Amino acid sequence: MEFSLNNKVFVFAVILLICFSCKNEAEPKPLEEEQNEELIMYQPSEMANLMNGMYAYNLQIRQQIINGEVPVSMPLDLMKLHSADMSNGHARTSVWNSKIDGFIEAQQTIIVDTLSNVELKQRYNTAISNCLACHKTECTGPIPKIKKLLIQ
Ligand code: HEC
Repeated sequence: MEFSLNNKVFVFAVILLICFSCKNEAEPKPLEEEQNEELIMYQPSEMANLMNGMYAYNLQIRQQIINGEVPVSMPLDLMKLHSADMSNGHARTSVWNSKIDGFIEAQQTIIVDTLSNVELKQRYNTAISNCLACHKTECTGPIPKIKKLLIQ
């Protein structure tokens, strides 16, 4: 039996319908995107990750210094502090800008300055004080945690 024009139109309409229903099934995409956006919002910022890395690093060398060992390597790229994206409404304020270089120097001096006559423990505590000096205004939440890094 030959397809009449009507049958062809009917088949075309069915195909169209299937196409549209496919599309409809794929429609939840915007929702997925929305969920992804939410996930991104809850992801720590590049800066938060870097800060947590600095915390972990200092916790580690703190123990080494207490054990009488001399920390020799600094695995973090502190220059990223100048470019890392921040979250939660944080920004490079004038306070940030006035503190960041002093902090980086103090942090690097712990391992770089082997000829320094300033005691290792004191150099370490100076770096941690520099964390605190910036955190006092720029991000107060982690202050109690950072204070515990100080070697008494
Ligand atoms: C020049 C300012 C400045 C210095 C110095 C600084 N911080 Fe931060 N820190 C910040 C800011 C701003 C944030 C918030 C970043 C964000 O949420 O994007 C932050 C966030 C953090 C966080 C929270 C990360 C999270 O999960 O949200 C920790 C922990 C932290 N810093 C530890 C440290 C430690 C330890 C040091 C020193 C080794 C240090 N910070 C030095 C400004 C500073």
